[in-house]
Amino acid sequence: MTETPPINNQIDQFKRLAGEAAVDRYVKDGTCIGLGTGSTAYWAIHRVGELVAAGWKLEAVATSKSTEALCAQWHIPLVGFLERELDVAIDGADEVAPDFALTKGGGGALFREKSVALAARTFVVIVDAGKLVPALGAFPTPIEVVPYARPWVEREIVSADSSVQIATRMSNGVEYRTDNGNLILDCRFGEILAPAMLDARLRSIHGVVATGIFADLTDHVIVADASGVRELTKRP
Ligand code: 5RP
Repeated sequence: MTETPPINNQIDQFKRLAGEAAVDRYVKDGTCIGLGTGSTAYWAIHRVGELVAAGWKLEAVATSKSTEALCAQWHIPLVGFLERELDVAIDGADEVAPDFALTKGGGGALFREKSVALAARTFVVIVDAGKLVPALGAFPTPIEVVPYARPWVEREIVSADSSVQIATRMSNGVEYRTDNGNLILDCRFGEILAPAMLDARLRSIHGVVATGIFADLTDHVIVADASGVRELTKRP
């Protein structure tokens, strides 16, 4: 193991608690793990690195180039997507609704994250309690789009919801590109009462690669706050 990142505040501490708890509960020697992306997933990856250093035989599928780099840094053996069956995927989220619908993609890795979540036998979400919401939508919904098709996709999104606000994600003054070379449109739909329906509608638009709405994918949510770590019960 090399360096451990600093814990700057209490939220970072909660992220660490949730990430480590997910690995301790759902990873066994021999497990193949889908590893998420972001500052909470970081702590799950870190814990997996500790277990590998302790001699556990683990393999992982990374959901982004940044997660690949962390795995390389911590000597976590990587396999390609579905080269082996995925026992469990562990990832963060931007919002978690009571029915375990998620907004994801704040870090831009939504396509690979959804691929891994779909394929894993068990999908475990790790968050600090600030990510729990009564309904999705306060965090803008990321939509990954093939660059050529952007005008068409924007027109179709507006025709589905005329009050939507769409922003092309930027990074350091230029349009952000995903690991797949695509754009992200961050879309404000207001409160999302039927996430699965909105996801299906958006995915039907030619040029949309994936959306950050993860409906009906999550098996477990591990949340940490000042009272400690707990697993949530799904509510319809
Ligand atoms: C990346 C994601 C992340 O899981 C999500 O943005 C949460 O990130 P963080 O744990 O850093 O708050 O979906 O695409």
